[in-house]
Amino acid sequence: MRKQIVAGNWKMNLNASESEELIAELKTQTFNDGVHVAIAIPYLHLAAAVVQTAGTSINVAAQNMHQAASGAFTGEVSAAMLEEIGVKTVILGHSERRAYFCETDALLAEKINTALKNEMHVIFCFGEELEDRKSESHLDFVASQIKNSLFHLNESQWENITLAYEPVWAIGTGETASPVQVQEMHAHIRAVLATKYDDVLAQSISVLYGGSVKPANAKEIFAQKDIDGGLVGGASLNAVDFTAIVNSF
Ligand code: PGA
Repeated sequence: MRKQIVAGNWKMNLNASESEELIAELKTQTFNDGVHVAIAIPYLHLAAAVVQTAGTSINVAAQNMHQAASGAFTGEVSAAMLEEIGVKTVILGHSERRAYFCETDALLAEKINTALKNEMHVIFCFGEELEDRKSESHLDFVASQIKNSLFHLNESQWENITLAYEPVWAIGTGETASPVQVQEMHAHIRAVLATKYDDVLAQSISVLYGGSVKPANAKEIFAQKDIDGGLVGGASLNAVDFTAIVNSF
């Protein structure tokens, strides 16, 4: 049940032709068997990317979606719209969405419900700020993020959830959490899940790490026993680097 996953998060980067070029380069790469590869790309390029990756092992994902089914929400995109063009995976709760678009744990719980209702797979992101770590409240903070957004789910709904622990202080900063810090947090995340569900469920969920993952550090991070892969920002914009990360398992 637990899968090895490497997902690229392109964020708001690359225009349509650059997107097409990068996907074409990715298609020439050889990924290690057994690693699930996804790219989360801007809305505008999703439909073309689904067509371009058809017949490959690359899964195209969205970086966000709205919680409502449809309606007067100018500028937003619904789960059904994503589904219709063949996008079945969505990132929810990225720290940039939380920080710049005021997404709260409660709102994210709604988005998760909508995604699951539409049979989408969710990569749910969370992680502490530097102050939380400095004050040694990071374990409690992360536990509360998980509880607030996910503990209303029943066991079977977890089949469509992948978790991504992304300490905010390590995103885009070049500063990576150490493998020991990440392993400690991932074991904690499983322990938190076990308090609400059970150990079987806690051990079955894929938990990714995100925050300055690069070819140079991926191997050591992925070697930790509770780490099932990575959510990769900056380094996912380069086909060779991204492939090296995928092949670090
Ligand atoms: P980064 O971003 O790899 O550039 O640090 C990770 C993320 O935000 O998902």
